[in-house]
Amino acid sequence: MIRHQEKWGTRIGLILAMAGNAVGLGNFLRFPAQAAQNGGGAFIIPYLISFVLMGIPLLWVEWAIGRHGGLYGMHHVPGMMDCMGKSRALKYAGVFGIFTNLGIAAYYVYIESWTLGYVWYSVTGAFTGMTAEEVSRFFSMYLDTGSGGLINLNPISVIFLLLTLSLNIYILSRGVSKGIEKTCRIGMPLLILFGIFLTVRALTLKAGVSGASHDALIGLNFLWQPQPASLTNPKIWLAAAGQIFFTLSVGMGSVHVYSSYVKKNQDIALNAASAGWMNAFVEVVLGGSVVIPIAVAYLGLDWVQSNVGFEMAFRTLPSLFQNWGPLLAALGGLAWFGLLFFAGITSSLAMGQPVMSFLQVEFDMPRKKSALLFGLICLAMALPCVLFYGAGCFGEYDFWAGTFSLVAFALIEIIVFAWVFGMDKGWQEINRGADIKVPVFFRFVIKYITPLFLLAVFLGSMFKPENGDWAAAAARLAQGRSWNLAPDSVLGTVLNKGIADKRFLVDGRPTPLLFVTATRMFLLLIFTGIAVLVYKAWRNHKHPKEEI
Ligand code: ALA
Repeated sequence: MIRHQEKWGTRIGLILAMAGNAVGLGNFLRFPAQAAQNGGGAFIIPYLISFVLMGIPLLWVEWAIGRHGGLYGMHHVPGMMDCMGKSRALKYAGVFGIFTNLGIAAYYVYIESWTLGYVWYSVTGAFTGMTAEEVSRFFSMYLDTGSGGLINLNPISVIFLLLTLSLNIYILSRGVSKGIEKTCRIGMPLLILFGIFLTVRALTLKAGVSGASHDALIGLNFLWQPQPASLTNPKIWLAAAGQIFFTLSVGMGSVHVYSSYVKKNQDIALNAASAGWMNAFVEVVLGGSVVIPIAVAYLGLDWVQSNVGFEMAFRTLPSLFQNWGPLLAALGGLAWFGLLFFAGITSSLAMGQPVMSFLQVEFDMPRKKSALLFGLICLAMALPCVLFYGAGCFGEYDFWAGTFSLVAFALIEIIVFAWVFGMDKGWQEINRGADIKVPVFFRFVIKYITPLFLLAVFLGSMFKPENGDWAAAAARLAQGRSWNLAPDSVLGTVLNKGIADKRFLVDGRPTPLLFVTATRMFLLLIFTGIAVLVYKAWRNHKHPKEEI
């Protein structure tokens, strides 16, 4: 077992790296889509409450677990979880902290590569003169060369994927301070600059200006006008909590690993809160001010509400930018896709480090080799998403790695932190070297409120009923009828409720059920493989807990 000597270079570098980890495609693609699909302003209050009662406490907990593990040379999540208590089982909880990063990185880097491709197309004027339909078709072609959405063999998208992956590997191989920190110090300010440019441009769009038919402010109003009635809607709460997980990268393991490179008495309380609030600002202010307002200005609120989704950024925006004239259209495309690219890469780097540090610490693998191996595993895992994009593989990755695992691990880690490690030690850990006084109220929140909140989210996503209508489902149950699970609930997904045809092959051709089942088995295999590696690592040599 080797001891890492790496540390963050500067405080601002650390905050930017942590904020870069959080600020990602989720802020600009997932947030607007989630907010719009859940009633716009109706989403905001549950979102902000989830941020304060779940997001911020989890950030403090994860920073504390990470810095504590780092003191023992444990820069990977199984090792940090092991340092939390006596039980030998704790390290296996940390398997999530490697699996989730790999599973998300596999599809995340693919989307990141689209943004790189679209920067290229925007600055070379590829969209000039195209109609809206042509721009949308261009995106379909980019993903798929006409094989009905089942098998994607478009070499261009594969080339951009390889380029993006190579860039990630290169930066990761340079190390925490010289690679990740340096990239975030450049990428984050540029991202904010691009975001401000687009926000100003979007918010000055009025009906009649630059071909717009509506005021962009209608879109902003839709997103930001809080609707207190939503507070009683569990469907919106689940969506809001899910967004908090994804956007803050909590329950993932990447925050822990970044924090394990923080020095023993260096502040984490203020740093964690700063990175969390910076992410919230970028998400709500910048993320909310670009894609929805611009789309509303040109296409109207009704159109946006019925067509919103994360593909809208690729299918629609390049054609809307054309209304600004050739120069501004190219600049708009560069700013928008460049912003997405920086947001993406500063997050995917954070997904690579947890995998690398496991290989480095436990298998004595040199940094460059571990970066390369991460890249190769990531590529192997990305291929099903690339090749079978239209067949549901992508969705499976997002569901199991990007949604379910985050909640499951967050629930486990908060119980371990508050109840196994213990709140007395936990509170001390959060406050050691703190540059702010964390309100004592949060001690209570971390011990009781956040775990209960997480339990509710976990059970809610397990048993979510059809249309998210809990009252109707309960009434059915009272009448002696069965609980009607939603197809996208965890149990509904396991039971394949959303897939009508239950055959694996039809006329010798694979069905979506076959693709989905194979993807699930593949992910399960990866998870088990990591658990076996953890087992072997602990058999191979002593770990800090055993040495004490
Ligand atoms: N937190 C990252 C994002 O929002 C994963 O995209």
